[in-house]
Amino acid sequence: MTTKDTDLPLRENIRQLGDLLGQTVREQGGAELFDTVEKVRMLAKDARAGDTEAATQLEQTLTGLDDHMIMPIARAFSHFLNLANIAEQHHRVRRSRAWAMDPESRPARGSLEDTLSRLASSTDPDALHRAACDMQIGLVLTAHPTEITRRTLLQKHNRIARLLDQQDRQDLTPEEREDLETDLKREVTSAWFTDEIRQRRPSPLDEARWGYAVVEQTLWNAIPRNARRLDRALHKHTGKGLPLDAAPIRFGSWMGGDRDGNPRVTARVTRQSCLLARWMAATQYERDINTLVDELSVQCMDEDLREKVGDAWEPYRVLLKRVRARMRLTIRWVEARLEGRNAPEGEVYLQTDELLTTLKECYHSLHRCGAGVLADGNLLDTLRRVACFGLTLMRIDIRQEADRHTEALDAITQAIGLGSYRDWDEQQRQDFLIRELGSERPLIPHHFEANDDVREVLDTFEVIAEQAAESLGAYIISMASKPSDILAVELLQKEAGVKTRMPVVPLFETLDDLEGAEETLERLLSIDAYRSHIGSHQEVMIGYSDSGKDAGHLTAAWALYQTQERLLACCRRQGVKLSLFHGRGGSIGRGGGPTHAAILSQPPGSVSGSLRVTEQGEVIQAKFGMPGIALRNLELYTTAVLEATLQPPPDPKQEWRDAMDLLAEVAAKNYRGMVRETEGFVDYFRSATPEQEIAGLTIGSRPARRKTGGGVETLRAIPWIFSWTQTRLLLPAWLGVGEALDEAYQRDLTEELRTMFQEWPFFRAFVDMVEMVLAKGDPEVAAQYDRRLVPPELRPLGADLRARFSKTLDKVLAISGHERPLDDFPVVRRSVDVRNPYVDPLNRLQVELLHRVRHGNEDDLRKALMVAINGIAAGMRNTG
Ligand code: PGA
Repeated sequence: MTTKDTDLPLRENIRQLGDLLGQTVREQGGAELFDTVEKVRMLAKDARAGDTEAATQLEQTLTGLDDHMIMPIARAFSHFLNLANIAEQHHRVRRSRAWAMDPESRPARGSLEDTLSRLASSTDPDALHRAACDMQIGLVLTAHPTEITRRTLLQKHNRIARLLDQQDRQDLTPEEREDLETDLKREVTSAWFTDEIRQRRPSPLDEARWGYAVVEQTLWNAIPRNARRLDRALHKHTGKGLPLDAAPIRFGSWMGGDRDGNPRVTARVTRQSCLLARWMAATQYERDINTLVDELSVQCMDEDLREKVGDAWEPYRVLLKRVRARMRLTIRWVEARLEGRNAPEGEVYLQTDELLTTLKECYHSLHRCGAGVLADGNLLDTLRRVACFGLTLMRIDIRQEADRHTEALDAITQAIGLGSYRDWDEQQRQDFLIRELGSERPLIPHHFEANDDVREVLDTFEVIAEQAAESLGAYIISMASKPSDILAVELLQKEAGVKTRMPVVPLFETLDDLEGAEETLERLLSIDAYRSHIGSHQEVMIGYSDSGKDAGHLTAAWALYQTQERLLACCRRQGVKLSLFHGRGGSIGRGGGPTHAAILSQPPGSVSGSLRVTEQGEVIQAKFGMPGIALRNLELYTTAVLEATLQPPPDPKQEWRDAMDLLAEVAAKNYRGMVRETEGFVDYFRSATPEQEIAGLTIGSRPARRKTGGGVETLRAIPWIFSWTQTRLLLPAWLGVGEALDEAYQRDLTEELRTMFQEWPFFRAFVDMVEMVLAKGDPEVAAQYDRRLVPPELRPLGADLRARFSKTLDKVLAISGHERPLDDFPVVRRSVDVRNPYVDPLNRLQVELLHRVRHGNEDDLRKALMVAINGIAAGMRNTG
């Protein structure tokens, strides 16, 4: 089969959905609207193909539109892009099914079969089995404000995907086919009638609810299926299966726990989020247990079970009905607590082990009396779920900025007459914290009067103290830079009487902090009081987007790589196991990229059986929104971590390190030179991109800035990247790279870089990602923003940036050896090509809208602008 043939069903789906949308536009918006949309679409296609006359006409048509026409046109293109995304996601699932069914095909790359058969040929079966069973992969869902699509629309999109899937059945009758087409039309129309812009910002609890809903939507089933596959592959390649309580993948959450720069996440919100998670888990289990009660009308049992239930007629039902009654009690108990009422705990399930033990008893008994095939069905699936989700669904991390703890300690030391903690130097702070960690006497006076900010910090520790350990994950400190930042949180936990302390995890995220991370950790681990707190395990988080925003993508990537190496060496010296937690977003500039390649390009030794990583905002839907894709992503995580553990990539050669040092130095100089030192840059950024308007989007509960005012420094990484993605310049992902590669060229290092690209997964992944960004970008589109929105005196800056974009592309292609970007990624190429004629008009409309809004501020236009932002985000498949 040719690639063309395999893509045919995708093209048909896109055409079908496009036609249905066209019909809807015509029926609901009238012929004039439909004709205009069609005209714009054709012009955009021709313009993309290089027809300059069409480009001029397109520009004239769009700038000449009446205000009232702009909105429906923006909506039409935005809807189309969303529909194309659905068709493409569905096509991925279809392709992987076709692949699996083709007797000629090899196992798909990154599949369990592919990975385990390769690993089994070089690894002792016991070691392979052990590594697979001990793996700890933590996928931490966060509420980062990058999911621009409303939940209600996402649900419609998922229904459309399901209908496309049903339509693929070969044995549909004409009547069934017609019904499906009508259902599709209904969903497309219903989406068209739905407002794509949220009326108000979601609250942190809304965000938590949405995040938890993904469990119900897909993960609840995908987790046991992934375990089943792993179990089967392990049996085949090692002779032993996956133990019942092994949970290679677990989920964590920042929803309702991440208060860094988000004043709406309060102690109360965290408490409610923990309860909501319990509620969601209990209601899911109740459903599972119901199924088991129906199914297990089995009468035979082993002696252990007989001891439990006596000579019952249907022993499993007896036992499971008890479980169900307790689960119902648990639901009512959680509901009462959510409403602020106190309910007696009684038989409420509070410990996962209790549930696990009962289910295991049923499981073993069934096996012992010859009904193992029943045990290995729904019951085993439920056991796998309990192992993964426990009773609390996912553990909630807390994140807070280091400075907030300093402020709290400062208030305390002042109140008790010790002076100002803030004014002390690092050594004084550490001495004080160590002393207090060892002291029996409480530090905080009884009637301590604190301002609201300090109170909030202390209240959070109280909530931590009152939660069961199973509800909570780690305490992350953002902008951590010194040992005292970590000790401070240890002390505040002690003061609040936290019994099972939360592991305290520093988040290093600026270039300086990354460079200083090893020293910080070395000092910390040499403090006895600290060591006795942590045992032999330390987790460290590294932040991809803030480091990228600080020093540029290339320099940050290299710093992150080296920081991991140094932290590993430090922990080895200290006899401590290091786990790394990667804070990365979806877009390339925020550390995003294909999961498998990203994990396999980490420094050797850094994965070693454990990996935690954030799944942020829109990534949650993209990776886990549809059942087939969720399963594939879980599989990719499983195989990549296993492979990186057992067959880590080799250490880079010294020449490669030297080359990276050089590239990183030149890139940072150029990136910072532009972003921080070039006069007028911030003004240019503000006028040429929708940065100010993006702040008004109601997509997340947290504000766009950590502090009001200021330039690029106070802006969070997400809106920074979001803005450049909209204008298609995508500057944060590549600025500085071209100059760095040029310097390497001047020094005759191009051949070396080509070898690095071929042989070093880290460098390859980096270059591939930059190439991908440059392929999605388009300086010509960015130029349209400049022409209409940027004051003439700042325009040379834009021209300079666009020239750098083009130069960077040339330099990158010289390394990858590709003639055209994305030669190695035909799927992405296709997706960019399909989308361009739809995104282009939205960009032009956005330029026009920004111009009109900035000169008139009409509410309707502002809304149309939001729609255009939405549509471009869908077209780029990323926000920020
Ligand atoms: P943060 O994340 O601002 O929440 O640290 C940044 C990002 O993920 O881009």
